[in-house]
Amino acid sequence: MQYQWYPGHMSKAKREMTESLKLIDAVIELVDARIPLSSKNPDIEKMSNGKARIMLLNKSDMADPKITEQWEKYFVSKGYYVVKVNSKNNKSNGKIKETVLTACAAKIERDRKKGIKNRPVRAMICGIPNVGKSTFINTFVGKAVTLTGNKPGVTKGKQWIRIDNMIELLDTPGILWPKFDDVETGKKLAFIGSINDNILINSEMCYDLMKYLNALYPDVLAKAYETELSGDVYEDLKRIAIKRGCLLKGAEPDIERAAGIVINEFRAVKLGRLSLEKP
Ligand code: G4P
Repeated sequence: MQYQWYPGHMSKAKREMTESLKLIDAVIELVDARIPLSSKNPDIEKMSNGKARIMLLNKSDMADPKITEQWEKYFVSKGYYVVKVNSKNNKSNGKIKETVLTACAAKIERDRKKGIKNRPVRAMICGIPNVGKSTFINTFVGKAVTLTGNKPGVTKGKQWIRIDNMIELLDTPGILWPKFDDVETGKKLAFIGSINDNILINSEMCYDLMKYLNALYPDVLAKAYETELSGDVYEDLKRIAIKRGCLLKGAEPDIERAAGIVINEFRAVKLGRLSLEKP
């Protein structure tokens, strides 16, 4: 099965983002903590060259905490400021603000030397679809106010949100599509639900997912489905179907239904906090 991605208006999105980048000091890039590399668009890295770079390992509540620690170190070694985030709550807001200011310390110091005081740093949220940008913006912004375009110092056509005296956020995130020549990247995006499911066959995706889980977390499926498994995913999905009462006429295991269950339970973190990529 082909895991495909139909890149809508990639060049338009890139052009818009390049324009926005001229206005900002820092790029806050969101990735999915379960697959930080596969959910990262390499163009964002290139385009944000020279800006302060903050990486949010979002959905870290769904990822394997030990692996997320490893990713944090990895991205720090690549020059990012990194925060592990669950955008569904605001517990990381303080840490993120602090990190943005630390990442922009050189810019703040340059302003100070020029006699410019209290000019907020400006940041933009970037990421591929479904990594949680809207959720994050809502949580991070809280009750902050939107600044409209006709005040002095506010660029026309762009909306800025004042987070506090020190930070302003561009109100529209930069969205770039994932990029993959590599079939494994496509698979992982499909597993987490970031590729339109309608074009995919459940059983085939499930076999691929089970192969990943067997390699990374050998006991997880047997434990979750309370059944002895052989390690052969084709045989094991049948066993899971039987265990879960997914049966067709004549007591044939209903593979497609069982596959849907496994995929949904993986996505709902019912199989545990699992990461699909290690640094
Ligand atoms: P986007 O703007 O980048 O496209 O992503 P969006 O915020 O729409 O988030 C995509 C899905 O991911 C949403 O789930 C959202 O709730 C969930 N999400 C975002 N951040 C986090 C996080 O840190 N942890 C967890 N556990 N989930 C997160 P949904 O099922 O589409 O919507 P909903 O039913 O949750 O409202």
